[in-house]
Amino acid sequence: MLSKYFPPALLKTIAARAGTPAYVYSQAAFLKQLRAYKKAFRALDPLFCYALKANSNGALCALAAREGFGADVVSGGELYRALRAGFKPGKIIFSGVGKTAEELEYALKAGILFINAESFEEVLALEKAAARLKKPAPVSLRINPDVDPHTHRYITTGKLGSKFGVSFDEALKIYMYAAESKWLRPVGAQFHIGSQVQSAAPYALAAGRLAAFIVKLASRGVTLKYADVGGGWGVKEGAEMPGLSALARAVGGVFSGTGLKVILEPGRSIAAPCGALLTRVIYRKRGGDKNFIVVDGAMNDLVRPAIYGAKHPVVPVAGPRGPVKKFDVVGPVCESGDFLAKGVRLPEPAAGDLLLVLSAGAYGFSMSSQYNSRPRAAEALITGAASWRLVRRRETLRDLVAAELP
Ligand SMILES: Cc1ncc(COP(=O)(O)O)c(C=O)c1O
Repeated sequence: MLSKYFPPALLKTIAARAGTPAYVYSQAAFLKQLRAYKKAFRALDPLFCYALKANSNGALCALAAREGFGADVVSGGELYRALRAGFKPGKIIFSGVGKTAEELEYALKAGILFINAESFEEVLALEKAAARLKKPAPVSLRINPDVDPHTHRYITTGKLGSKFGVSFDEALKIYMYAAESKWLRPVGAQFHIGSQVQSAAPYALAAGRLAAFIVKLASRGVTLKYADVGGGWGVKEGAEMPGLSALARAVGGVFSGTGLKVILEPGRSIAAPCGALLTRVIYRKRGGDKNFIVVDGAMNDLVRPAIYGAKHPVVPVAGPRGPVKKFDVVGPVCESGDFLAKGVRLPEPAAGDLLLVLSAGAYGFSMSSQYNSRPRAAEALITGAASWRLVRRRETLRDLVAAELP
């Protein structure tokens, strides 16, 4: 069934005007998710930093900025996008395990809220950048709380042995160093335990460990202002996200009354439900005992099924056609891993019919590529019951070679 956010008549118009495959986003659904966070966390009044990596389209980012959100960026490119979309520098934080000296300087010059550093060497590089610019650097450390969020191993980030963050012991030494430095200002501490986390319990555990550590730091004379609990709240593909109130209770239970400003970095749970990939059937075929629907969208457009085994619901845009059968929905890329869905039950479509791959607003376009020299898809934003606009044009063949030199 099509969600109320994606009216079939509009989808047909978008397909006709923008072509397929195309990402289609619902402004109303995006705003609903942003506001759900604000409502659930009203008592705690945290700073929400939307994680641009989930979906960095400028139109969506501008909506988040207008709702008062800050931004969580993980590269100079995302920082550029965040500033361009209107996020206030004082609400931007910069995460990531391998920031370069240039990226650190860019962030300092922009005057962002703080940098989430992930190693002692990065803190030293930040100190040097700050000294070069003669501008003290606000720094927070990403701490690995050694908590297992029980999610996909590729998106588990808060267990010791992952490349992310530093241990509490190492963090203590780094904070003591930073506190003595003329060019570093320790202001916060962060964890991010993973993505697609479906339960509040691991947050409660990690937050408790972080809070105890912040108290210990204060006893050594280092007082922090911010406690950043990362992102990672899950989305059940094709369904509503699990209740945010449980997350708010877990985080609020630990930090309310401490005087710390809490920061959250949600990405997927905001962007996923508001986006879908609109794709057109090219052919049908049988292979062994399988029915295939070959569509014009592929793993270069939506790679999550191939790399995470993600299951996205697929629905026909027009009413039912042929008998309901089990299909693998596959793309034209020359890889067996190129599929959008496997074993989905659908009324048999005809060539030329439109299908909608749901729950694709996060880590969809932002992870897309030009693999197989396929120009990247267009992106369209539905702004009302009968209104939409293109928010990124489809790439052309010239775009494929535009950066190449002879
Ligand atoms: C540091 C950091 N913050 C926030 C996020 C956003 O996570 P999600 O999109 O699952 O909410 C991520 C994603 O992995 C991340 O690495």
